[in-house]
Amino acid sequence: MKFTLTTPIYYVNDKPHIGHAYTTIAADALARFHRLRGDDVFFLTGTDENSQKNVQAMEKAGESDLVAYLDRMANTWKSTWAELGISIDDFIRTTEPRHLAGVERFWRAVEASGDLEKRTYTGLYCTGCEGFKVESDLVQGKCPLHPNKELDQVAEENWFFALSKYRDDLLAYVDAHPEFIQPEARRNEIRSYIAQFMTDVSVSREVKKVSVGIPVPGDDSQRIYVWFDALLNYMTAVGYGTDEARFARYWPADLHLVGKDIIKFHCALWPAMIMSAAKHDPMLRNADGSPKLPKMVFAHGFFTLAGQKISKSLGNAVDPRELAPGIGFDAVRYFLLREIAFGEDGDFSKERLMERYGADLANTLGNLVNRVVAMSRKYCDGVPKVDGAAPLPIETSWHAAEDLPELKTEVDAGFEHARPDQALEAIWKSLFQANKFIEETQPFKLVKEQPEATAQVLYAVLEAIRWYAWMVTPVMPETARKIFAQLGLDADAEYAKGWDAGLKWGGLPPGAPLPEPKPLFPRVESTDAV
Ligand code: MSP
Repeated sequence: MKFTLTTPIYYVNDKPHIGHAYTTIAADALARFHRLRGDDVFFLTGTDENSQKNVQAMEKAGESDLVAYLDRMANTWKSTWAELGISIDDFIRTTEPRHLAGVERFWRAVEASGDLEKRTYTGLYCTGCEGFKVESDLVQGKCPLHPNKELDQVAEENWFFALSKYRDDLLAYVDAHPEFIQPEARRNEIRSYIAQFMTDVSVSREVKKVSVGIPVPGDDSQRIYVWFDALLNYMTAVGYGTDEARFARYWPADLHLVGKDIIKFHCALWPAMIMSAAKHDPMLRNADGSPKLPKMVFAHGFFTLAGQKISKSLGNAVDPRELAPGIGFDAVRYFLLREIAFGEDGDFSKERLMERYGADLANTLGNLVNRVVAMSRKYCDGVPKVDGAAPLPIETSWHAAEDLPELKTEVDAGFEHARPDQALEAIWKSLFQANKFIEETQPFKLVKEQPEATAQVLYAVLEAIRWYAWMVTPVMPETARKIFAQLGLDADAEYAKGWDAGLKWGGLPPGAPLPEPKPLFPRVESTDAV
């Protein structure tokens, strides 16, 4: 199956901080999960470059060459993701020719559908959001997301998109596809916005008012509104307007991951734009004539850093590459995806990160691997030579061979529903049981009286560890490889089996040698993290 997933495209008015990394890491974990399962994955991210915010940032930096500025900043984003091992399949910049070609085609299609009309717009505009605001959006006269920014009074002639014409179609789509807006609480919020507040929107700005933006086809006096152009990145990256075969293969998107701040754009404006263009452009229609709409938009929460909003002016916009020297990026990935219920707000603090590093990673996962590998080497000279399917000859509270297939079902569900936190929670619950099983069976004592039973106990946990290595792979790819190595297995050969075949009880060959264990998560006295 194909699986197309996207992150928002980021403004390049700054370098990435931990908040941006959060969306991208979550997307990376889901992309890795789908690849493990054998899906044809297309994982997209990129940069949103036709924004006035970028120009303002460039000017603030005392620069004047916009092309050079955008090139440099796009490279900063690209190289940050590369350094963090984010497994993207494509990186789109909205100043690329392939994007411009698709935007032009799309604009013409919406125009041909009769949904664009010139009107005079008078009202407020927030450059922080790149969005038009109405009174009901404001708190004490300011944009609640950018209370330090003055709102612009705009009075100009613009192209308007007949968004409200799509009210009923949008509501019908949302109701018929409950999975479209996730989590559920957001669906209610968006539903009431569509039903009660959504109005037609201006989708262009006067050339004389803005210094960047894609020209409106056939109207030299106007530039396309940045959000109209930005949303289209999801299509132009998969070939809309340039590569029909690629577009047919990867569109519609299966999942747009976004922050809760930009959900309206993704769940109202975006599908309505597609509904409109699809009336004219057959590429945007399914065989039954319906528009090819994205399958799911999942909005995650925002997080604070040690209780404070992340912002450049507070000086806490930490570069994700510098977050946790000494403990490894896998630990940061684990922390972010485990600590915060995906969809809700949360806090990132060094203390919590180090707590989880010590408790969940070093003590629970790391120690289990270390102890069991060491005991198997000592008592059985490698992987115990036993029939892994035979029942244990002693009474125990945990039966790995039964528990792990159930765990796999939970992990599948967690990742499939964009809930990596739930997948991790289930894995750690099982890890606690595995540790308890060792406490309970006490192989170091048992071995004196029942060496056979000891061998079976150890095999069961080693095989369970092999399953854990598979299941933590999407979130902790490097750690998973280390665990496979500790089991004497070649990670690539394991992955070549495929997710379902790899996760069958008994995959660990009895009698195989085990290399000397090394701590997976070395103790760190202190770290400069955060
Ligand atoms: N360019 C637009 C998106 C266009 S998508 C067609 C944009 N860019 S952004 O750079 O300002 O922010 C992108 C995303 O970064 C947010 O939606 C959110 O996903 C993420 N985050 C930024 N700060 C964050 C936190 N403090 N916490 C969590 N996510 C945060 O909006």
